[in-house]
Amino acid sequence: MYKRYLITSALPYANGPVHIGHLAGVYIPADIYSRYLRLKGCEVVFIGGSDEHGVPITIKARRLGVSPQDVVDKYHNLMKDSFQRLGITFDIYSRTTSAIHHETASAFFKKLYDDGKFIEQTSEQFYDDEAQQFLADRYIVGVCPKCGFERAYGDQCESCGGALSPNELINPKSTISGSAPVLRETLHWYLPLDRYQDFLENWILNGHREWKTNVYGQCKSWLDQGLQPRAVSRDLFWGVPVPLEGAEGKVLYVWFDAPIGYISNTKELLPDTWERWWKDPETKLVHFIGKDNIVFHCIVFPAMLKAHGDFILPDNVPANEFLNLEGKKISTTENWAVWLHEYLDELPGKEDVLRYVLCANAPETKDNDFTWKDFQTRNNSELVAILGNFVNRAMVLTQKYFSGKVPAINGLTDYDREVIAEIPVIGKEFENSIETFKFREALKKAMDLSRLGNKYLADTEPWKIAGTDMNRVSTILNISLQICANLSIILEPFLPFSMKKLRAMLNIDAVATEWDKFGNVNLLAEGHQLAAPSLLFEKIGDETIETQINKLEVTKRSNASTVSDTVPQKETVQFDDFEKTDIRIVTVVAAERVPKTDKLLKLTVDTGIDTRTIVSGIAEYYKPEDITGKQVCVLINLAPRKIKGIESQGMILMAKDSSGKMCTLQPSEAMDNGSVIS
Ligand code: MF3
Ligand code: ZN
Repeated sequence: MYKRYLITSALPYANGPVHIGHLAGVYIPADIYSRYLRLKGCEVVFIGGSDEHGVPITIKARRLGVSPQDVVDKYHNLMKDSFQRLGITFDIYSRTTSAIHHETASAFFKKLYDDGKFIEQTSEQFYDDEAQQFLADRYIVGVCPKCGFERAYGDQCESCGGALSPNELINPKSTISGSAPVLRETLHWYLPLDRYQDFLENWILNGHREWKTNVYGQCKSWLDQGLQPRAVSRDLFWGVPVPLEGAEGKVLYVWFDAPIGYISNTKELLPDTWERWWKDPETKLVHFIGKDNIVFHCIVFPAMLKAHGDFILPDNVPANEFLNLEGKKISTTENWAVWLHEYLDELPGKEDVLRYVLCANAPETKDNDFTWKDFQTRNNSELVAILGNFVNRAMVLTQKYFSGKVPAINGLTDYDREVIAEIPVIGKEFENSIETFKFREALKKAMDLSRLGNKYLADTEPWKIAGTDMNRVSTILNISLQICANLSIILEPFLPFSMKKLRAMLNIDAVATEWDKFGNVNLLAEGHQLAAPSLLFEKIGDETIETQINKLEVTKRSNASTVSDTVPQKETVQFDDFEKTDIRIVTVVAAERVPKTDKLLKLTVDTGIDTRTIVSGIAEYYKPEDITGKQVCVLINLAPRKIKGIESQGMILMAKDSSGKMCTLQPSEAMDNGSVIS
């Protein structure tokens, strides 16, 4: 077996938080693999980091009215923190806006350029004359030629899902200035992948038949179609500048710079020895990614590394398929996700439960579905009922009969011998599963050990013979505790928080639980003092699950009422029309729920003119006590109407974003009630 491993996990775009799809597809398997190799005593470097360039980040920034740097700062920090809280053991989690990355990516490009590895080509691209910049496909909207949807993007129509190119759009408009874009010539650099066709075919199709079928299959289909040159630069202001004279306003394409981020981050971590990890053929490089990244990691990046020379190539790229949520594709823009940072806040202490469920249900060979019901079942009937129950019985019985000291073995029965012999068998099968990237299978094998222990206790029933045969009880508990110690090794990569707790209960340290000790039943010496038992897992009740399901229901309902990201502008009105509205600052003096409704609050407001009642649909966002005392904006001359039998005299003004989230508007400083808004 190799001794040195460089493990990378796809650098997530810093334009949103981490969700369960990312975790199940990439970060949990990568962490399990890294932890396992460390247990085995291998030298491991596990690289993570944020991918902070690319067009979507600039679009998000523009929409929020902040800089791209603000966007990536926010999400980089959020992701870094939540990964750490979930126990993902990156050796470094850095970012592609770092100085060292800009230098590294720039030098990489320059070397390929100097060595004549690129071709230069001009092409026509859409240009915004008013904003004086080239437009990425996403910056152009128009009518979809396929379905007539009015706000289709230059690369895709979100209504019919069809792929588009910007010149197919009817009546195209720049989303920056609103003007019609014009075609303009522009120069770019291309990596001629066709020149690497033979090399890649041989290296992958002949040399890596052991890769996962989904990965091998995708590579084969790309190769069978014949590779084409790919542009490695873009006309954009956000990214690593193209390091050539006359290339102002051009940056490296995000998919050129991002994988180099793996190298930059290794350099940042190990400034003196990083080359051993990237250039020594004794190092095994493994990329953990999702299926949408296969072509970049199996074809484009290896071609880049080959063109550069000196670098090793990936040994394996165990890409996963996608995880859906409650039967629907996870979507950041539609807020259809379980966000890691929210999970950690809302279900504290349950890090391992999420790790367990996402591994047990990982989309290794096909897309899979996460449901909260399944989450509950796996916790209650696997973690609690099997693993937790077994460990707890072994610990509590030892406490009760032997004051928490590991009792002696007093002769073995055939059944004992069978159980003991089974442990290393499980270990071997486990190793085989994990080393072929079958983490679900590996987890199942590891859980089989707790099933074995549970059955052993159920079959031998030491509590029934405690009055008559303490010698036998002593043997049974010794063996059970040895199984617990073995569990603390084999489950460490999957359930690190709980196994740390288990080691503390067994009063053993991490060194005692290295992989080469697995399978032994002398991990705990006779007379060794255990610590006090406590529960490893707790049942999750229906209320917890319902709260999470309701949260998703709210998202579903608000998505149903939003058509596209940004609501198009309404038709022009004259100032006189606007003048007819009377909008004032008022103070909410009292608020209560309208009985038998989910959404309505009955508010009493002081308008400066009078005190009146307004019924408002904000109960999903504000509790009565949260809104009381606040100043808000009210359209006070709206014709009164009866809502649920209550006369409402006016309307609270609310802002609503693309996810359907709503909030009230407040003056930036306290104002007199009745102040006029105009
Ligand atoms: N940001 C990309 C994504 O989320 C992944 C980049 S992986 C890297 O799909 F290799 F480019 F870093
Ligand atoms: Zn369409």
